[in-house]
Amino acid sequence: MKRPSVGTENMPIVIKTKIPGPKSLALMKERQAAVARGPFHVTPLFIAKAQGAIIEDVDGNRFVDFAAGIGVVNVGHCHASVASAIQDQTTKFLHAGFNVTPYESYIRLCEKLNTAFTRLNPVPAKSFLANSGAEAVENAVKIARMATGRQAIICFDHAFHGRTYMAMTLTSKSKPYKYGFAPLNPEVYRAPFPYVYRWPTPNVADECFHAFLNVAQAQLAPTQIAAVIFEPVLGEGGFIPMLPEFLKKVRAFCDEHKIVLIADEIQTGFGRTGAMFASEQLGVAPDLLITAKSLGGGLPISAITGRAEIMDAPLEGGIGGTFGGNPLACAAALAVFEVIERDDLLSKAKALATALQDRLALWKAKYDLIGDVRGLGPMQGIEFVKSRKTKEPNPDAAKAIVRYAYEHGVICMTSGTHSNVIRFLMPLVISHDELNEGLDVLENALKNS
Ligand SMILES: Cc1ncc(COP(=O)(O)O)c(C=O)c1O
Repeated sequence: MKRPSVGTENMPIVIKTKIPGPKSLALMKERQAAVARGPFHVTPLFIAKAQGAIIEDVDGNRFVDFAAGIGVVNVGHCHASVASAIQDQTTKFLHAGFNVTPYESYIRLCEKLNTAFTRLNPVPAKSFLANSGAEAVENAVKIARMATGRQAIICFDHAFHGRTYMAMTLTSKSKPYKYGFAPLNPEVYRAPFPYVYRWPTPNVADECFHAFLNVAQAQLAPTQIAAVIFEPVLGEGGFIPMLPEFLKKVRAFCDEHKIVLIADEIQTGFGRTGAMFASEQLGVAPDLLITAKSLGGGLPISAITGRAEIMDAPLEGGIGGTFGGNPLACAAALAVFEVIERDDLLSKAKALATALQDRLALWKAKYDLIGDVRGLGPMQGIEFVKSRKTKEPNPDAAKAIVRYAYEHGVICMTSGTHSNVIRFLMPLVISHDELNEGLDVLENALKNS
């Protein structure tokens, strides 16, 4: 199979034109005329091809990728096994509709997901496949409501769960995600997230749980609550890891009141945090697990996996969809599972975590702009502040660093409620040289800030 060759020079980064180059500039002009304003861009660079952790733009410039298409290509861009599984499937059928003429790969993928779930929660498991993260979130809520006969959903401050109506309602930040789109969905309640860096006292877990109980027991009665949904590490919310001691209390509360605990591992899954799923590292077993992004190795697919009796609650036909579990995406996802195991991606993720954390710790000691460095495994974020004393968010610094980075050959992106966090989401297969060259660019950006 012909595979895209990305770059021939020895160095990972090659900048040949002013950034953005002329072809990217021309395409951006055409984009502005033809495409709605809504979709945002992290960079003004149009991609031509990509391989591993390297992206080449239409002007022939080569970048180290620290964004992975927002955490989608954990196995690397155009992984040979994923690409060949897709190509093989193209010779058979492109679409059938699991609701019309079912196919084996859908079942095999659900089995893989069930086995992975059972490692978190040793109970019989079943899965259902959809197309996007947001669609999976919607379905997880439907399933939890059907299984419990209850309506209320508790979510957290700084959460991001997607852009469809329920997913958007569960999302915390107003602008740009919810602003102007009201009315939002009813029966969604929000509790504080244990944001250690900005919590006013050291007693975060207890105080946060107290606030959770205020929502779950005072604003609501527990018998009204269908589900609690959480991200093990806030993604769009600023790469803030969940506190295990807080989550364990939430788990016990859910057990006591037969509430479905939903882990949204759309961004944290498939090795991103150094384990298959971050819930494992937190020591908490969810009842439902939502996955998307890196599940498909670059193809759009998502899944809800969970306790069989909960997953079986909806009536036949109550969940489904034309494209959910598309055969090309199933083939790609099965290859992703194989690659993670065969190439020992979790060990690679752990080694990446060590290298990244060591470097970020040095930066924190050196640069006052950095208020906090945190994360889980290689899923690390840097929070920028105007002053370490006041902790006033510094989104301009984060934005300037992202810009300097892409102008000098590194693609990275911000996150956080105040857009003042730079997050690291590089493909887990990134080489030592690529990582270091990319980090050198970011350090130069820090020196210039
Ligand atoms: C934690 C989390 N949940 C849900 C979503 C929504 O996924 P999608 O963009 O595929 O709808 C995202 C996307 O960034 C996410 O990070």
